[in-house]
Amino acid sequence: MALIGAGVWGETHAYLYNNHDDVNLQAICDLQEDKAQKLADKFNIEHVFTDHKKMLAEVNCDAVAVVTPDFTHPPLVLDCAEAQKDILLEKPMATTRKGVQKIINVVKKQDIRLMVDLHNRWNPPFAEARKKIKEGEIGKPVNAYFRLNDKMWVATDMLSWAEESSILWFLGSHTIDTLQWLFDDKIDRVYSVSHHGVLDKKGVDTEDIYQTVLEFKQGGIATIENGWITPDSHPNINDIKFNITGSQGMINIDTTNNGLLEMYNQDGHENPDTLVNHFVHGRAEGFAYKSILHFVEKIKKGEDFLVSIKDAADTSLVILAIMESAKKGKPIKVDYDI
Ligand SMILES: NC(=O)c1ccc[n+]([C@@H]2O[C@H](COP(=O)([O-])OP(=O)(O)OC[C@H]3O[C@@H](n4cnc5c(N)ncnc54)[C@H](O)[C@@H]3O)[C@@H](O)[C@H]2O)c1
Repeated sequence: MALIGAGVWGETHAYLYNNHDDVNLQAICDLQEDKAQKLADKFNIEHVFTDHKKMLAEVNCDAVAVVTPDFTHPPLVLDCAEAQKDILLEKPMATTRKGVQKIINVVKKQDIRLMVDLHNRWNPPFAEARKKIKEGEIGKPVNAYFRLNDKMWVATDMLSWAEESSILWFLGSHTIDTLQWLFDDKIDRVYSVSHHGVLDKKGVDTEDIYQTVLEFKQGGIATIENGWITPDSHPNINDIKFNITGSQGMINIDTTNNGLLEMYNQDGHENPDTLVNHFVHGRAEGFAYKSILHFVEKIKKGEDFLVSIKDAADTSLVILAIMESAKKGKPIKVDYDI
């Protein structure tokens, strides 16, 4: 494999490939050479590049992981696909309709395989909820509530590119994918309102929060909240609350303050969500790792990915509709025609 992007999440990918018996991580590329070199030294990666086209021309790899900022994905995917590489692409697939179109077309044309890393499908309580729903335990899903927020620190400190993205791309893509997966249905119409100003005052010109109502094609409804202004004193990086109610039952999920682990010291306390990413006896164990390992496994076995390319494309198209709705102040029908 080869890896494009040596940032926060690129390091996670590098760690996993370096520890995987079936993967030889041959090359890493980042526009910032020092970042790529640092990970190359840490994970024994032989080749370092600052130009992905040069890497694709010189390195003989089967697959490439694209782990660059949200808005940079389409041209990198196009070049990897044209070089006949299978691709693990970080979410979201693309932040424009044109970007989605280009990716769908190139994957078809080059006959390569692509998975978008919508990893909440591996989150144990959500995977269990999907199983229960499929088994008919709550009847037909009727309505859902899903809050998926980040601490403000993510927008102000962790991501240097927050204002070129949005909380909808960064976390909302998980919200939309999870809901369409659990309802086993596509979203037909959206109505969203957003708030601007809190982050702007801190020098990050992006929406603080989107509150959105979703209508599914078969009549289901959901209310979602995606915000980037949860106070930094919050004990967990994410604030997650979830409910789905069906014709015969209901499921609640609260992975924020699950009480699995409470940590206190003289400066404060933390409730880290040990389901996402953590280490047990030196081995990576969280669900955010499982999706990356799934890509490797399915490439090796030639089997379908849990996240189809269509589902990932549709997720981006729903988010574009949400943004349009918030901008125009009216409900918008999702346009899946690409
Ligand atoms: N940070 C997380 O917790 C997390 C979790 C899951 C998914 N993701 C996703 O992973 C992707 C990367 O996020 P991140 O947090 O690692 O960002 P980051 O800013 O920490 O790292 C991105 C890296 O990509 C490099 N880059 C940008 N354009 C490039 C190009 N054309 N060629 C080569 N390198 C290029 C940048 O120099 C930077 O080092 C995003 O799509 C994000 O949504 C992040």
